[in-house]
Amino acid sequence: MENRPKTTVILAMTADGKIADFQRNAARFGSDIDKNHLEKQISLVDAVLLGAGTLKAYGTTLTVKKSELLANRKQNNQPSQPINIVVSASGKIADNLPFFSQPFPHWLITTEEGAKNNTSNFEKVLIFSTIETGKINLLQAFKTLKELGLNHIAILGGGELVGSCLEENLIDEFWLTVCPYVVGGKTAPTPVEGKGFLSSHGQKLQLLSLEQIEQEIFLHYKVLSN
Ligand SMILES: NC(=O)c1ccc[n+]([C@@H]2O[C@H](COP(=O)([O-])OP(=O)(O)OC[C@H]3O[C@@H](n4cnc5c(N)ncnc54)[C@H](OP(=O)(O)O)[C@@H]3O)[C@@H](O)[C@H]2O)c1
Repeated sequence: MENRPKTTVILAMTADGKIADFQRNAARFGSDIDKNHLEKQISLVDAVLLGAGTLKAYGTTLTVKKSELLANRKQNNQPSQPINIVVSASGKIADNLPFFSQPFPHWLITTEEGAKNNTSNFEKVLIFSTIETGKINLLQAFKTLKELGLNHIAILGGGELVGSCLEENLIDEFWLTVCPYVVGGKTAPTPVEGKGFLSSHGQKLQLLSLEQIEQEIFLHYKVLSN
């Protein structure tokens, strides 16, 4: 892990393991307690990473607002907000999203093709080659993020981005919030998309903590195979 940032995936899912409904609408099933949990986790990192699909669904992302969390960041010599980094091979990101008016640095991880689009809303554009799947070589990308001084990043989804990271052994921890809803749907996204693993080769996790708060369960796992 020395040559890449520590990575923590943070996702809320329904009791039937979906991170959104079948229309891929922005997930709104987490409670305010879950939102506070997400804000706290975001406040601990140097940058957050999100897939283009997630940015498209939400249009914005969560910022750190609570004074005690902002004070902790200041004490740790961190800027008030983590950098927000979008991953998009195509580079096709609508430029009128409210995300671009939010007060943090906006970075893009893309390909040479992707960078030919209008990416001027991003303060930094990092270009990487692709691997066989046509996906960006995230191993290379994460190495660059570390070289740029990012030691801990939060991966906020969606399932496709998490799947790509997991395939390249780039995930250290998961925070999963199980929310008291069922949405079903065979096309509704789950925390890990992509091709998937055979169960004999599934990524083994160690449960670090489990907490029930009101109707939600907060699960914290470490990925053992890294
Ligand atoms: N419940 C939750 O906590 C939560 C959190 C986040 C998202 N969500 C939900 O998840 C859904 C979106 O998830 P998703 O799986 O569809 O999308 P996603 O992972 O957010 O985005 C997929 C897109 O991101 C880019 N991308 C991801 N991995 C890449 C890689 N390795 N290399 C190059 N590009 C990569 C590609 O963009 P291009 O096509 O532009 O190349 C790809 O089409 C939404 O419905 C959202 O509401 C839920």
